[in-house]
Amino acid sequence: MKEIVPSLLSADFSILAEQVVLMEEAGAKRLHFDVMDGHFVKNLTFGAPLIASLRNKSDLHFEAHLMVSNPEERIDEFLKVGTDTLIIHAEATNHLHGLIGEIKSAGVKAGVCINPATPLSVLDEILDDADFLLIMTVNPGFGGQKMIKSSLAKVKKVKEKYSSEKLLVEIDGGISLETVAEAATAGTDLLVSGSAIFKSENPLEMFKNLTEAANAGMV
Ligand code: DX5
Ligand code: ZN
Repeated sequence: MKEIVPSLLSADFSILAEQVVLMEEAGAKRLHFDVMDGHFVKNLTFGAPLIASLRNKSDLHFEAHLMVSNPEERIDEFLKVGTDTLIIHAEATNHLHGLIGEIKSAGVKAGVCINPATPLSVLDEILDDADFLLIMTVNPGFGGQKMIKSSLAKVKKVKEKYSSEKLLVEIDGGISLETVAEAATAGTDLLVSGSAIFKSENPLEMFKNLTEAANAGMV
């Protein structure tokens, strides 16, 4: 079963808790938090306090996608607030191995992420240790961009080596009703979707439609 993971980046921040409940009602199991520092990426969003405040409102699996420089200076705060999966960009640190170890020692699932221009091979020495791989299908920083379909080849490649039990694979960026079926066919376990869900007239229905389309034709 392919899972759609709503990204709150495109949600209505004035009613964020309600949007979370709506995604629970729609059947979501996980929520994606896009943390941006205005340095690693141009945009600036939110930090650990926002995750902490929503943690009291929802039992969903919270995954934090850290688009920040020097993640080694930031991970502690995310480990403390009830993040279930913490995702670090390979491009943001020279200490990926150490960070993965720290995250796992805290009892949190450790995720690594690569940008479209970064080859899968930079993760050769680390994927056996990680729990989760996020493959960007847009350049990080903003919602509502067009999917870079060439990145889907990375999913196929990694899936030849790792089962879903060993390594969960997720793609992020440009997932919509137009692209979701092709993206799912590449073999990913999870598909993040922000603007397609939250900019639609009916986010609950859109979540369900995307889930259906992602799983149509799957055995
Ligand atoms: C982009 C973020 C994504 C974003 C995806 O930097 O990492 O998670 O929310 O948004 P859409 O689904 O609009 O491409
Ligand atoms: Zn993201």
